[in-house]
Amino acid sequence: MNIPMIINNEKILVQSAADASLLSVLRKQRLVQVKRGCELGICGSCTVLMNDKPVPSCKIPVALAMNKEIITLEHFMKDEMYISIMKGFTKAGIKLCGYCNSGKIFAAKAILSTSARPTRAKIAEYTQNLSPCCTDQDTLINGILYAFEIHNKKGQ
Ligand code: FES
Ligand code: FES
Repeated sequence: MNIPMIINNEKILVQSAADASLLSVLRKQRLVQVKRGCELGICGSCTVLMNDKPVPSCKIPVALAMNKEIITLEHFMKDEMYISIMKGFTKAGIKLCGYCNSGKIFAAKAILSTSARPTRAKIAEYTQNLSPCCTDQDTLINGILYAFEIHNKKGQ
């Protein structure tokens, strides 16, 4: 079927089975920052924003993404907030080989966008279902807190 989609602010018509995963459709669009990992919704490698919320695209049937705003990491990399997140992650010693970056980065983005003052407990609660293969939860929380500090200093 033809599925109308909005990917990285561009309206396109995609030919796909309704139950194909959003991950497979995005990969066919050559959006290579959307990585295929566990396909169980755990590792975060396939994370995208859907209407501004991080979702594992491996678990979303493409029909559910119809006419929703999908943002992939290649697009978010042009955002100021991405730079703050990278700096915070680097300061915390978070590995960024590129494979499972999107889960960690979009978790940080969601917290930076919605929290006036995120606490360790709040970030831990938010990231409890995310298990990137390379980063423990404590290090990820440190990185998000550093990113928050750096991003908010910019705005002052
Ligand atoms: S590939 Fe989707 S969460 Fe791991
Ligand atoms: S960033 Fe390399 S495996 Fe997670």
